[in-house]
Amino acid sequence: MSFMSLLYKYLLLFTIIAFTKVSCLYFNFSTFEPNDATKLLLHNSYIQREAIQVTPDNIKDSISNLSGRALYKDPFKIASFNTTFVINITPETSPGGEGIAFILASDPTLPENSSGQWLGIVNADTEGTSRAAILAVEFDTRQSSTRDGPDGHVGININSISSLIQVPLINTKVNLSSGKDVTIKIEYSNDVIFVFGSMSGNSQDSMETLLVSPPLNLSYYFKQVVYVGFSASTSTYTELNCVKAWEFSGVEDSKKNKHLLVWIILPMVIILGVLVFLLAYFLTKKNTEIQEDTYPRIEDQIQHSSMAPKKYTLQELMKATGGFSHQNKLGEGGFGTVYKGTLGNKKEIAVKRVSKNSRQGKQEFMAEVTTIGSLHHKNLVKLIGWCYESKELLLVYEFMPKGSLDKYLFNQSSELESQYSKVLDWKTRNSVILDVAQALDYLHNGCERRVLHRDIKASNIMLDLDYVAKLGDFGLARTVQKRNETHHSTKEIAGTPGYMAPETFLIGRATVETDVYAFGVLVLEVVCGRRPGNVFAQDDYKNSIVYQVWELYGKGEIVSVVDKRISCEEKEVERVKWEEEIEIVLVLGLACCHPNPNERPSMKSVLMVLNGEASPPIIPMERPSFVWPAMPSSFKEGEDNSLINGPFTQLSGR
Ligand SMILES: *[C@@H]1O[C@H](CO)[C@@H](O)[C@H](O)[C@H]1NC(C)=O
Ligand SMILES: *[C@@H]1O[C@H](CO)[C@@H](O)[C@H](O)[C@H]1NC(C)=O
Ligand SMILES: *[C@@H]1O[C@H](CO)[C@@H](O)[C@H](O)[C@H]1NC(C)=O
Ligand SMILES: *[C@@H]1O[C@H](CO)[C@@H](O)[C@H](O)[C@H]1NC(C)=O
Repeated sequence: MSFMSLLYKYLLLFTIIAFTKVSCLYFNFSTFEPNDATKLLLHNSYIQREAIQVTPDNIKDSISNLSGRALYKDPFKIASFNTTFVINITPETSPGGEGIAFILASDPTLPENSSGQWLGIVNADTEGTSRAAILAVEFDTRQSSTRDGPDGHVGININSISSLIQVPLINTKVNLSSGKDVTIKIEYSNDVIFVFGSMSGNSQDSMETLLVSPPLNLSYYFKQVVYVGFSASTSTYTELNCVKAWEFSGVEDSKKNKHLLVWIILPMVIILGVLVFLLAYFLTKKNTEIQEDTYPRIEDQIQHSSMAPKKYTLQELMKATGGFSHQNKLGEGGFGTVYKGTLGNKKEIAVKRVSKNSRQGKQEFMAEVTTIGSLHHKNLVKLIGWCYESKELLLVYEFMPKGSLDKYLFNQSSELESQYSKVLDWKTRNSVILDVAQALDYLHNGCERRVLHRDIKASNIMLDLDYVAKLGDFGLARTVQKRNETHHSTKEIAGTPGYMAPETFLIGRATVETDVYAFGVLVLEVVCGRRPGNVFAQDDYKNSIVYQVWELYGKGEIVSVVDKRISCEEKEVERVKWEEEIEIVLVLGLACCHPNPNERPSMKSVLMVLNGEASPPIIPMERPSFVWPAMPSSFKEGEDNSLINGPFTQLSGR
């Protein structure tokens, strides 16, 4: 038998048990036969003439000064109940005495000396004490004291013969002492007891409401199980107290049911535990299988591509980098450390050792191998090869002798002696900006499948021997599946604070426009020679380079933001041209950082401006505030507006 069908049967079985346990105590005596005595606890009561004689009706002996009880044999934990019964009281004196009561009692036994006014409910000893532990709905035929109701009344008593509430029957059709059958229905639910009565049968419409109790919390009075049934008594006044039929339906208090806990909840917990364990086991197993499988599949993919990066052995790369020695360390990248290496043919390489304990490291590895591995552009750092061996993830790039751009832009005094102490002049900076723009235009518009870089920043721009800039670190890059799509659909925020467009926090994904924004920040950095400022909050741009440059632009002093280290030693005529160029690039940078993504130029337009084929976009004198959802573009007619409102996502920049 399969596990599921076994489980199903088990659940079914316990559902049945659950319902049986929770549901009613139900029984129905349409009449009483002598052998029904086995289902009842009879104390001084008898089954005779198809009825329970609650007080004996043996004519030979005197029936005065008697009491009796007749209860159902099984107790139950009270929650709610309905009961309907037929009583017949035949007075032998006038008036008859004393009466009959429907009772719920913790103790089924008949109290001693409970005849007469006590109705078999309590005796002088237990009267008014919690030891009585009894609730009674009394059908009293005689006023036994001044506090008692008139002859013929209904009352509700708790632990006492005195009623909490009593109602005379004088104004109703019900006459207890008529010697005729009286049908009584009692309902207890939501803490209220309803008593209905009728002389003519138990059809609902003939029923007359005799009494409605105030709210009574019966679980307060009865902490344990109770017995249900009848009691009755006679005194010097006598009557025959018969119950001729009785139907009872009670709902048990399931909350207090220990069987429920043991037989239903406990197995359920065990089943759930086993299920969770099995699920976890299978998932882990599957995951391991996937992990084992993933890299060989990448291998296939890479090997089958015509311009495939080479697969290196771990041994080759160990040798090239001197066993990843500290001296060969070039820097710490996003998800790993980069080492300089020399291959056997004297060719210099950069080897990125993806950190093993980083879960994202594997993602980065795959992203790089699958995106940049198939891309070829003079302004993209070239991936030469890769290696996956002994759980080492290694990426081999062309070596960039001049290192990364950030080192030159934000160089610290301690680094002044190094190669990075060189100040990049304006011509170099301008060409770096053009190089990066070309790389980005290629990714967005020029290659077979659109690629979003998602992490454009100064430290990801590498410089070759001639200071030609190449865009690297494709660890966060994602390929957009369809050519006409402008965003990738994974809902994950990635990037570097300060370079992230304000809407990133709202749409929670990368778009072509968020790449353009990061490019704009890079442009400002390159010109100003300072870091972008740490901007986490969506609306606080006070510290950001974008805010400050825009402010100076509004004052007509934009050229004053230029890195002081760039000097112009040329003639006056050249200086005017120099300032003009810088202003165009800065305005272009600001346009890329427009708070409204739809107002940002595409990389194609950026290139046209940088190549002098178009003038920069017109931008407002003051930085517009960030408004979301973004207004449609005022100038980008025909270009796709890719931004759609997306859910808020947690920031996970790095
Ligand atoms: C019944 O009890 C009352 C009061 O205790 C007593 O006066 C009367 O004699 C008793 N009757 C019989 C028949 O025992
Ligand atoms: C009692 O009867 C009422 C209707 O008269 C019904 O709604 C309720 O469920 C019954 N309760 C029990 C315990 O049978
Ligand atoms: C109840 O019925 C009896 C016998 O028929 C009668 O004597 C008595 O007056 C009736 N009581 C009321 C309150 O109608
Ligand atoms: C009824 O009494 C029980 C037992 O004392 C108590 O736990 C419960 O809160 C009471 N319910 C109400 C409605 O007072």
